[in-house]
This record gives sequence, structure tokens and C-alpha cells, in this order.
Amino acid sequence: MLTERLLDGILRKLPGQTFTIKRVRKMWTQEEEARFERELEYLTEQHPLERIVDGYVFLTETTMEEGRYFQEHGGYRYHSFEEVDKRVYADREKMTLCMLGLSVAEYLWETILLIHRFYEKTIRKVCGGSYLEIGPGHGKYFLEAYNLGKFQKYVAVDVSKTAIGMTDAYMKRYAVPGGYYELLCRDATELDTREKYDFIVAQEVLEHLEDPLGMLRKIGSLLSENGQAYVLMPIMAPSKQHIFLFRDVQHVKQMVKQAGLEIVEEAYITAKGMPVEEAEKKRLPVNACLIVKNSH
Ligand SMILES: C[S@@+](CC[C@H](N)C(=O)[O-])C[C@H]1O[C@@H](n2cnc3c(N)ncnc32)[C@H](O)[C@@H]1O
Repeated sequence: MLTERLLDGILRKLPGQTFTIKRVRKMWTQEEEARFERELEYLTEQHPLERIVDGYVFLTETTMEEGRYFQEHGGYRYHSFEEVDKRVYADREKMTLCMLGLSVAEYLWETILLIHRFYEKTIRKVCGGSYLEIGPGHGKYFLEAYNLGKFQKYVAVDVSKTAIGMTDAYMKRYAVPGGYYELLCRDATELDTREKYDFIVAQEVLEHLEDPLGMLRKIGSLLSENGQAYVLMPIMAPSKQHIFLFRDVQHVKQMVKQAGLEIVEEAYITAKGMPVEEAEKKRLPVNACLIVKNSH
């Protein structure tokens, strides 16, 4: 099985992960286990297994390094989009490693596994004319939404050429025929607000922007009359690509309100189910998953 071979490769390079990987494997449903194997089959058609291992090791090690920087300095290392664009988004090799790493972390990092479950539950509940995903990255979430076929039109926009290329390849391979989608390689902050969407997803994107408040306002102006958006804002979550620090849940809620949006549904995902107040006190990540709409 590819899963076993991948995990062997990872544990050879990161033996300290033995316990956490064992723990998260116990959480997998049969469907998740089968889906991981299927996704690895697809990824190994494009990349050697060793490169996928390297992607995961790269993502894990750089995230740990940024975690240490954050605990020491109380803030993220990078603050401008330009710095990260040069270092990651526009660097084909690094962006590919990051996205391969993220595809695997979705099954090996407990918090991302839970985030994926929240996303799945959310997209099953919504339908309408048009769906917009901002920052699809590897494209797996976009494909999943598209294949449910609950919207007439699907649009994904990502600033990284590599991300759009990966999304395109995923869609060409697995998208069910008959639907309509568009992939745009563009800065989402520059989207034309004359086009409206019934559901917008920006999962793990706002912390990548210099002005997340401006983007939240833009999301509000892109929504149709009764449209809703799912935004995931990681709080105190250091990573090489994160430039805007959401300090706590209160900070996130204030910004949503300031953008003229109101929360319809909220969930907060922490590592090992730690209570949010405790994570905030220890300056550990909290993932704020919010469904929002325009407050009229
Ligand atoms: C951490 S990945 C998230 C991928 C995916 N949404 C997920 O949850 O796994 C962040 C994505 O946002 C994209 N991104 C960053 N800044 C952006 C911007 N200004 N406009 C559009 N996409 C952006 C990055 O290229 C990257 O693909």
C-alpha cells in the first residue's frame, strides 16, 4: 500500500512523529483511509513517492522552525506579500513541495483532518448559481465541491501559477463531466466585484494577506443578495507563508464585524481538542472556521 510506504519514508526522516501519526491514524474513517490511498495513487503518477515524503518533511520542519521563531519573538517572521511571493508562491519547487506537504498533512495533522471534515460538512449544505474558491492551493477542496455539482458555475482564483497548475491537473483528471469551471491565476484582492457569488470559500488564505480586512470587505461585496462565505482564519499559527497575525478569537470576530459581515456559524479547532482559552493563553494555534454573510 502506498500509505504504508509513504509513512515509512516519513518516519525514517522524522522519527519523532511516530506517536502523533499513530494517534491520527486511529481517527481516520474507512472512507478517509481509502481516499488517502487514492490521492497518493494520483500524486505518485506525477511525482516520485520520495518527493511527496520530502514535501511533507519540508512543510513540517519549516512550520516547526516558524513556531520556534514565533514563541521567541511574539510575531511572524515575514510581513509583506512580496517577501512570501518571492520565497514561495512564485518559486515553483518550493510551492510544489508545500502543496504536496499540505496534501499529506491533511491526513497526518489532526487539525487539518478536522478542518477538512468541517469543509465537507459545509459544502454539502450549500447550493446555488455560483461558487468561488479563493486560494485553492493543491485544488483538492475545489474538486470536491465541483464534483458535488450543487452550483452551476465554479471559479477558483489563486495568485500562484503552480497552485493553479496543480488545481488544473486535478480537475482534468477527476472532474465529473457536464459542469462548468474557471481557474484564474490572479491576486484575489483585485477581483472584479461586479461578478457575484452565492458561496465563497477562503480557507487558510486571509493570514497570507497584508490586508485581511480589505479582503473580508471584498468577499462581502462579491456575495450575492443571500450569499454566504466560509472563511478559515488560523490564529497564532506560524508558517513560512503567514504574514498577518490574528492574535485571538476576539480579534477575528472584531475584524469580521468591521468588514460589515456577521457570523452565521462558528467552530474553533485546536490541537488535541485543547480548550480555546487554554490555547490562547499558551499562544498555540486556534483555527477559526466561520460561516459569514453580509449584515444588512
Ligand atoms: C495555505 S494555502 C491554502 C490552500 C487550500 N485553501 C487549503 O485549505 O488547503 C494558501 C493559498 O492561498 C494562495 N494565496 C495567497 N495569497 C493570495 C492572493 N492574494 N490571492 C489569491 N490566492 C492567494 C496561495 O498561493 C496558496 O495556494
